[in-house]
Order: sequence, then C-alpha cells, then structure tokens
Amino acid sequence: MYTMKSIRSYIIVAGAILMIAGCNATKKEEGGDANLNYCVTQVEKTLSGLHNTHQLPRSIANGSTQWRFVGYRDWTSGFWPGTLWYTYEYAKTGGLKAAADSFSQALYPLVDSAAIDHDLGFQVFCSIGNGYRLTQNAAYKNILLRAADTLSKLFNPKVGTILSWPREVPGVDWPLRHNTIMDNMINLELLFWASKNGGSRSLYDIAVKHAETTMHNQFRPDYSSYHVVVYDTATGKRVKAITHQGLNDSSMWARGQAWAIYGYTMVYRETKEERFLDFAQKVTDIYLQRLPGDLIPYWDFDDPAIPDAPRDASAAAIVASALLELSTQVRDTAKAKAYRDKAEKMLQELSSEKYQSRDTNDAFLLHSTGHKPNGGEIDASIIYADYYYIEALLRLKKLQETNQSS
Ligand code: GLY
Repeated sequence: MYTMKSIRSYIIVAGAILMIAGCNATKKEEGGDANLNYCVTQVEKTLSGLHNTHQLPRSIANGSTQWRFVGYRDWTSGFWPGTLWYTYEYAKTGGLKAAADSFSQALYPLVDSAAIDHDLGFQVFCSIGNGYRLTQNAAYKNILLRAADTLSKLFNPKVGTILSWPREVPGVDWPLRHNTIMDNMINLELLFWASKNGGSRSLYDIAVKHAETTMHNQFRPDYSSYHVVVYDTATGKRVKAITHQGLNDSSMWARGQAWAIYGYTMVYRETKEERFLDFAQKVTDIYLQRLPGDLIPYWDFDDPAIPDAPRDASAAAIVASALLELSTQVRDTAKAKAYRDKAEKMLQELSSEKYQSRDTNDAFLLHSTGHKPNGGEIDASIIYADYYYIEALLRLKKLQETNQSS
C-alpha cells in the first residue's frame, strides 16, 4: 500500500534521481548514432522539467511546448518509462537507469486491482518489461507475472479473445457485448513472456487463441483491418465490425493497421507458427502498397482530405520497428531486404527536419494523430511515437552491428 508519507518521500527521492539523470545523461560520449544521441538530448530536456514520477508525459499539442501529463492509469503510462529504458540501453548512464526505475515503480499500483481494460499489457510491458529485460530485477518480474494473470481475466473462451474495453465506449455496444480492438494484439506479448517466465501455460494458449480469432474476424479480404469487432458475449459469434478511432467502419485506420503489423510479427516470433508469419506479411503488404511516397501514412488511408489530412508519425514508427523484425523472419531474401529497406527509409524520413521535433518541443517527433474523430491529439507529438521510434533506432543499430560482425 502507498501511504501519503511513502508517496512524499518517493517524490523527494525521485526528484533527486531526476537531477542525477539530467547530469549523467550528458556524459554519453560524443559520436555514436546521431539519431539516438538526439533522443538522449530530448529525454534530458523533458527530465529537467519533471518534478515527480506521477507526471507521465503523454503528448504535446501542435503549437505548444508543454507536455500534457497523465497518471499511471492512463493507457499511455508505460511509454515514458519505456522510452527511458531504451535511452538507458543506448546511453548506459546510471542517471537514466535510476529515472527509468523510478518511473517504472510509479506503475506498480496497476496490479493492485482488476484490469480496467486490455491496455495493461502496453502499460507494464513497454515499461517494466523493458526494465526486466535490461536489469533482471526480481521485483519487476513479480509485477509482470501478476499483470499477466490480471490481464488474462478479461479473456472470454466462448469468443476466443480478450475483452478490450470492459466499460461503455461511445458507439460500442455495452454491457451485453464483448468488444475487441486491433490494438489489443500488442498486449499478447506480456502473456507470451509470462508463460515463458514462470506463469501458466494457459497464458500462451490465450494469446494464441486471441491472435487466431482476430485473424479470422477482424480483417477484410484485402487484409486491411477493422478497428473494433463486437461479439455476442454468450455465444461468441461476431456481431459487427466497426471503427472507433478511424474515419469510418470500412476505412483503414493507419495505427490500427500498424498494430496488426507489429502484433502478428511478434506473434510469429513467439509461436514460430507459419500461419502467423504469412499473415504478418499480408497485413504489411497492403499497408506498404497504400503508403504515400514519403512512407509516412496519413492518419487514415481513406480520408478524402488527403493530401491535406494529418499524418500519423506514430504509425510510421510502429511499422518501422515491426518491419525491422519482420525482415529477420522472412526467408525470401528479396522480400526480407525489401522490408528492411522500407523500414530504413521510414526512419530516415522520421529523422528528417520535417518530423523530428528538435527545438520545437522536447519530444522526439512531431505529426502524430491520436484520436481524430473526437478531436484529440491531432498533428501532435505523442509519447508512443517516441517510444516506437527509439525502439526502431535500437533495432536497426543491433541489426547493423550483427551484419558488420558476420
Ligand atoms: N491504443 C489506442 C491507440 O492506438 O490510439
């Protein structure tokens, strides 16, 4: 339990850590990767403006320089600690490690109650999952295993998917229906991890069943995805496919497709089942075919306002990261090279003056779109764009190092 006294002392400790982080991060030697160095600089700038670990940066509106902060319950809460872990992985400074640890610990209360939705995987695996990968801290492992069990309680075996939103969401039937959104694919990574690290085998089975059910029900014949599928809770039958964040029910929402690409690539990594590798390529190929020339999607591929519609750099960053992994999985060498080339070009574009925030604000990237239909975070800097951007930069660096040594 967190008492007021423990929270107060925690804030004081965190403040000290943040000061250390600000000092130490600059000790990263000159040289290295220019884009990763840029990320370290931007993270330092953000850290210097934070006063406690309960302020989690989420987005910066177009025209503003101020982060909008959220608390640990927000679906994006894991991306800032996760970004710190990736920055630490590159810069290896004690200050960044301490800051990443403090912000990760701020998410611990997430496992003290039932899951409020599927986003628990995003929240804990992007943050504490990376922390555990880099430190093997047993406290992180314990939180991750508890979170996986909590998330698994949202699985409906009749339907074969995890319930994404156990609450009323405008336009989505509730309470009699079971909804599943494409974004939910990403949360399966926590379940796969837990099943390999002391958790139940049933977590693996739930993740595979969710991926399979989604594959059958949440895509059109051209492999573009529906954002939301609504199922009959009692019979498990698919009732309808609709959108929530996209343009309309039949459009291809860019980030939804990005989650599908990233999700099925990850599911193949975890299962080594060919059907998922084949599917990952199909959902990728329709996305690549429909991209504009600079490889950064408009927020929805079917917006009639294109080319004047807002872009979504977050989708581009998610896909760049996924494509780097997919390029190591496909055995057709020409196709593998094509995926890698596309990913590198996406990263080049995201790293250009047009997309990097630089002196405009303290985020890494500009021009992401969060929730266009409700007017939220349009053409903004958004923390998950930064998270997947630095993840992709690190994946590329590792691939380059592997290629050089082989
Ligand atoms: N998971 C919510 C989104 O992608 O905006």
